[in-house]
Amino acid sequence: MTHVVRWLAGLAVGVSIMAVQARAQAPAPAFTPKDERVEDLPEGPGREETFGLCTACHGYRLVSNQGMARDKWDETMTWMTERHGMPDIQGADRDLILDYLATHHPPKAPARAGGFRNPFAPQ
Ligand code: HEC
Repeated sequence: MTHVVRWLAGLAVGVSIMAVQARAQAPAPAFTPKDERVEDLPEGPGREETFGLCTACHGYRLVSNQGMARDKWDETMTWMTERHGMPDIQGADRDLILDYLATHHPPKAPARAGGFRNPFAPQ
């Protein structure tokens, strides 16, 4: 009897090894942040430079979720350099990137007068 139990245990180990191997061969998940393409960004001078620099470390969505004036983008670039070790880009290259960011990701429009209206509020 014990040899049957041992045989079954051996079979179970073999099957689970096969399962692990099958999993290792499964295709990679479909989405990675690398799916962002520079062509998806609004066209304009500085697009390639901005995309290339900012997506070296994180998705462009982290950038495009923000809307800021040029001086705030400037502060953000300084912050990326001081805190996260982004190369300290200066001069014409920095101007190009800041112009791109300020043009295509300006401050978001302020909430409409009255602000949020609760759809469940009594009419
Ligand atoms: C060297 C790496 C690196 C580079 C290059 C870089 N960042 Fe970042 N950035 C980070 C990290 C890391 C975070 C995560 C933020 C945190 O939690 O502090 C971040 C977060 C951000 C955020 C979100 C901040 C928030 O409030 O959540 C913005 C906006 C941003 N980066 C803008 C930029 C822009 C614009 C560029 C290109 C000019 C850029 N980053 C390039 C490392 C980098």
